[in-house]
Amino acid sequence: MTKKPTVLSGIRPTGYLHLGNYFGAVRNFVRMQEDFNCFFFIADLHSLTTHPTPENLQNGVKQVLAEYLACGIDPEKATIYIQSDVPEVTELYTILNMNAYLGELERTTSFKDKARQQPDNVNAGLLTYPVLMAADIIIHKANFVPVGKDQEQNLEMARKFAKRFNRMYKKKVFPIPQPYTFDGKDMIKVPGLDGSGKMGKSEGNAINLYEDPKSIRKKVMRAVTDSGPTEMNQEKPEPIQNLFTLMEIVSEPQTVAHFNELYNTCQIRYGDMKKQLAEDIIAYTSPIRDRIIDILKNDTYLAHVAKTGAEKARESASKTLAEVKNVVGFKRLF
Ligand code: ADP
Ligand code: TRP
Repeated sequence: MTKKPTVLSGIRPTGYLHLGNYFGAVRNFVRMQEDFNCFFFIADLHSLTTHPTPENLQNGVKQVLAEYLACGIDPEKATIYIQSDVPEVTELYTILNMNAYLGELERTTSFKDKARQQPDNVNAGLLTYPVLMAADIIIHKANFVPVGKDQEQNLEMARKFAKRFNRMYKKKVFPIPQPYTFDGKDMIKVPGLDGSGKMGKSEGNAINLYEDPKSIRKKVMRAVTDSGPTEMNQEKPEPIQNLFTLMEIVSEPQTVAHFNELYNTCQIRYGDMKKQLAEDIIAYTSPIRDRIIDILKNDTYLAHVAKTGAEKARESASKTLAEVKNVVGFKRLF
């Protein structure tokens, strides 16, 4: 039997998972666990770059773990773990840092964005964020990394660091990780409800999986729109396109076609469209929400999942690290 390819991905425990995280990432994780050797983790070290309080960090880790499970990631099929439980990752990160250059790190879009957003906290962890992410990926020799479009550049950096290491030590230690989406389409970007850009935890425009139906209705009804099309088949401005994009993600194709037809014939009433969109989102999220609530009550189960996951992850990580240490010259002559 041929070995299944390895898949790895992670999410920072910085808040509730939202529709962007679900459709851009977690839904693909669930689908992949059937056919691949999967590692899904919670990137708690990465989240330290924004200085969470210890309480926030603890709650965030518990929440994402419960949400992973509620979305259908199965600890019998995939290895689920918390990044800081696997110290081999940080050891590899230190080694990779020696071949990561200031110029290329400073040019990374996510670094530039964060430096702009938090000018008083441009820390070294932020600068070397892509190096830690590369360590996460290559420590398990991952072949595929399912992530949303916003992580494309970080993944490109991981590929670069893996290639550089192989070249420098003239040995194919690491496979070069590929981005992956389940249906082979372009990586998905879920828009926010505030008219422009992507849905994000820190953008304040997100609908969470854990959110109650009342609050979902309220958020969707408040979504930015305009006064409506004035010409037949008019091109959609961004806020309107965003509503349609969300609808394409959660609703039946006939529903999308119906509202497209109304838009193209200048008969659309955004209030009706939003009502439909809210109900379709709720139909998607409410079973997940019920499961999150149940799992959050079960600390024994959560602790068991984290412990067995950490054991499996460390077994895999320590094999790679031993090989890396040999290759770089930590193998003793005495
Ligand atoms: P956030 O941007 O809300 O802080 P993260 O950066 O922790 O979320 O992202 C976790 C995962 O979810 C990543 O794989 C990321 O690509 C994906 N993701 C986040 N937001 C979106 C979005 N709006 N559309 C698609 N995927 C997304
Ligand atoms: N940087 C990712 C994000 O913000 C989280 C992450 C950390 C990650 N390490 C990873 C994703 C490794 C995929 C693989 O979403």
